[in-house]
Amino acid sequence: MTTIRLNLSSPDRSHDVVVERGILRRLHQELRQVADFSRIGLVTDDVVRRYVAEALQTELRGRGMETVLFSFPAGEKTKSVETVLDLCRRLLTSGFDRRSVLLAVGGGVVGDITGFAAAIYLRGIRFIQVPTTLLAQVDSAIGGKTGVDLTSGKNLIGSFHQPLLVLIDPDVLATLPREAMQEGFAEVIKVALAADPILLKLVEDHGADLLDPLHRKLEEVIVRACQAKCRVVSQDEQEAGLRRILNFGHTVGHALEAASGYTLSHGRAVAVGMGAAIRCSELWAGLERDQATRALGVIERLGLSTKIPAEVELEAVLASLERDKKIEGEVCHFVLLGKIGTPVVKAIPIRELRMELEEILREMA
Ligand code: GLY
Repeated sequence: MTTIRLNLSSPDRSHDVVVERGILRRLHQELRQVADFSRIGLVTDDVVRRYVAEALQTELRGRGMETVLFSFPAGEKTKSVETVLDLCRRLLTSGFDRRSVLLAVGGGVVGDITGFAAAIYLRGIRFIQVPTTLLAQVDSAIGGKTGVDLTSGKNLIGSFHQPLLVLIDPDVLATLPREAMQEGFAEVIKVALAADPILLKLVEDHGADLLDPLHRKLEEVIVRACQAKCRVVSQDEQEAGLRRILNFGHTVGHALEAASGYTLSHGRAVAVGMGAAIRCSELWAGLERDQATRALGVIERLGLSTKIPAEVELEAVLASLERDKKIEGEVCHFVLLGKIGTPVVKAIPIRELRMELEEILREMA
């Protein structure tokens, strides 16, 4: 078992991220150790429900714990204000009070919906992240970002609400398709390129073998990725500066996702976004060619493409990028690499960014 302490400025928000194969088999013990909850709400989607959440509920009920299971259709379309309000209404009718806890059992969408509902229900109740995808285990379940989408863009409504605990069981990845493992590796590579060259070496050494959920080095990869993320978040919880480095590959990535009508998964979009950011790093941040080749190489070794998918219109990507960035202000904080492990955040006016990126994205099509 590895316990990573995420230290934040307030002890109330600081918490543990625990990684251990099989930890969910003794979920009741982990819950009893943190608090005596009046009710436990397992929030999940209709896919994870069948594979994981129902078994967890049976186990907790067998230990005499009061549990209710709430599930939603799987997919990004569920990440809406309506879903959160629906969940809040169901919590109320099921008697959830301020001594209750929610467990987010699923991937990034489930984590976001649960975290945001926990942030606003009765002005805030406690929640625990139980991520069941690699992407959620190494990224979205950590750091307290919660939120939902509007039709005009992703994560436009939300809050920072830290979980009480993050429980990561690599064994739950056993049922994940290879594509979902690859998507998770986009975020592993992101944090490795931005903040942990030793993790990068580990991924390079084992390559696509790590896509096997039972690989002996996978737990170490997850632990290192979580440690790197915790180091960053503990210094800048609300993304005033340093935490922006975790958006490496996400500027173009988010624009691609939106331009594809969210048919392109987040992980695949981030892989292409990192490809663009690496090329831009050569131009604007002095990243040397051999380092750029190495960074692009590791993305491709995990079977992730850095090419703009043929079905996505370049003009739609640029328009979406401009729209997205206008919401943030007239300047885009574009994350580049000066060297592997040394990110630099450049404030670039959006008009200029659009002009410069157009050329690079054309070459990537
Ligand atoms: N996924 C990036 C962050 O949590 O800041």
